Order: sequence, then C-alpha cells, then structure tokens
Amino acid sequence: MGSGIAQVSAQAGHPTMLLEVSQDLLGKGVKRIEGFLRGGVEKGKITAEAQAKTLSLLKGTTRMEDLADCDLVVEAITENLEVKRQTFSRLDAICKPAAIFASNTSSLSITEMMTATSRPGRFLGLHFFNPVPLMKLVEVVRTIVTEAAAESSALQFVQGLGKTPIRTSDRTGFIVNRLLVPFILDAIRALENGVGTIEEIDTGMKLGCGHPMGPFTLLDFVGLDTTYYIARIMFDEFHEQRFAPPPLLKRMVLAGMHGRKTGRGFYDYSKEPPIPQNHLTA
Ligand code: 3HC
Repeated sequence: MGSGIAQVSAQAGHPTMLLEVSQDLLGKGVKRIEGFLRGGVEKGKITAEAQAKTLSLLKGTTRMEDLADCDLVVEAITENLEVKRQTFSRLDAICKPAAIFASNTSSLSITEMMTATSRPGRFLGLHFFNPVPLMKLVEVVRTIVTEAAAESSALQFVQGLGKTPIRTSDRTGFIVNRLLVPFILDAIRALENGVGTIEEIDTGMKLGCGHPMGPFTLLDFVGLDTTYYIARIMFDEFHEQRFAPPPLLKRMVLAGMHGRKTGRGFYDYSKEPPIPQNHLTA
C-alpha cells in the first residue's frame, strides 16, 4: 500500500519521498506506480503531463535520514507492532519536531505506536484502502491525545488527495474493518456450512447487495494472510466470536494460499477466468 500512498501524494502535487528497506523493493514499488500511471494515461483518466509531473515529484530512498525535512510521514510497513514502534522511534530522532507521524495500520493500536515517539500530540492514523489510487476513503484516526491542529492538517491532506476522510478514534479495526472483517469471516463460515459455493456466495453479494466484489474475491484481493492477521488482533481485543478466524482460513494461510499474490486462494489464478476452489470444504 506504501507505493499507492506515495503515488496519490505526488499526484496531489506534494514532493514525496518513498522509503523502502531495500533497492529491490523500492524498484518494485516505483514500477507499480509507473504501471498504474501508464494505465491511467491509456484509459484517458490522467494526462501525460500529469503523469510526468507525478513522477518528477517522487523520489525513492533506502536511507531514513532522507525523511528529515518531511512535514508528514505515513508508515505502511508490515503489521508488526514492535517493528512499527522501532521504526517510529528512529524516525522521531531524524524528523523535525513539527512533523506529523501517521500509521496506515488497519488493526494495530495507534496509541501504542505513539508512545515510541516524543510527539504524541502529532501522531495519528491514516488508514487508506486497497487499491489506494482508486479507493476514495481514508479513515483519520485520533488518539485521546492527538492535537486538534494535527487532526485538522491530516483531514486537509486527505481532502487535497481528492479523497473523503472519515474521523474515528483509536479502537481496534476503526470503522470499516469493525464491520467488514466479521462480514468476510461470515462468508467463510457460510461456505464451511455448505450454504453455497464460492461463486454463489460471491454472486449473491455482488448482485444482491451491489458490492463491487464478492467476499471471496475481496479476500483474495486483500490477502488471506492479512485478513487472518487482522481477525486475530480483533479477536484478541474484543473476545467476540464474530472476529474469530474460521479454521478454513487458518488452514489456507498455513498452506500458503494467500490469494492473488500467491496465485491461489479461494480462486486459482493460473487460468482466466480464475477457478473457484470449492473442494476446499470437502
Ligand atoms: N488510473 C486512473 N484511473 C483508473 C486506473 C488507472 N490506472 N485504472 C482504473 N481506473 C479507473 C477506471 O477508469 C474506473 O473509473 P470509472 O469508474 O470512472 O470508469 C475505476 O478506476 C475502476 O476501474 P476498473 O473499471 O478497471 O475496475 P473495477 O470497476 O473492476 O473496480 C475496484 C476495481 C476499484 C478494485 C473495485 O472492484 C472495488 O471497489 N473493489 C472493492 C475493493 C475494496 O473493497 N477495497 C477495500 C479492501 S479492505 C482494505 O483495504 C482495508 C485493509 O485494512 C484490509
């Protein structure tokens, strides 16, 4: 998601630094952005000038020190609290005191990350949605000590990206995942219970409720590993059955069926159209 966030920031006219842990990953992120912008020009969604301007505003780096002058730092690293805390603690020593720090976490505690820094008032969550360049929503997450000025700057930043912010407070899952995660876990439980096949459940929610993707297509798109991880964090927090990851999800994650990114999840993507894996519940 980091490359998507960097892209929309540069597209909105902000000089943007993209920090990655290795040149290899940085190259992949930049390629993804270039590909998306090229697609946008081909579809007539953006002009060639806008494409060139966006790319000129983007700089990639693997050196954290290069973020020293940034006004806003948005973290989108792996969903591991300790790694995030260590990263923010290092950034805190490098970035100017006035800079606002934000995490794109979908389920970890913003407050726990905030305590690794010396800027609790200027720390918040900016939760983007996948695919970042197309999804219009950003959750702006305040803690009980986020300063009003920092929240207001974050809201303005999101609006400047052409996206719609919604304000929420630091409670696990925020607004969207609080509702979305039980829904997609319920789809897996419905499959396990034999209520319908993968494609019947997907078609049901697409045509019956107007969802752009059925829950299994969405699961494969977001990643089964990511969903499993989020569900476990939410279950640990609330101890409610609706957040408990179903056994099938756990087994698929253990088997490396993580969805589109591994070529197989609830659908097999080696063929077009993808093949639903209904034998999973046999
Ligand atoms: N540049 C600019 N615009 C582009 C583009 C590009 N490279 N590629 C596509 N677009 C435009 C299209 O032209 C189209 O615009 P239009 O509506 O004005 O015609 C629009 O983007 C949609 O593109 P497509 O027609 O190619 O694709 P679809 O209509 O199939 O939509 C989708 C794709 C947006 C991914 C849609 O299926 C969708 O909304 N799916 C649900 C995604 C979702 O729920 N995401 C949230 C996941 S949860 C999450 O992220 C939270 C985390 O914590 C887990």
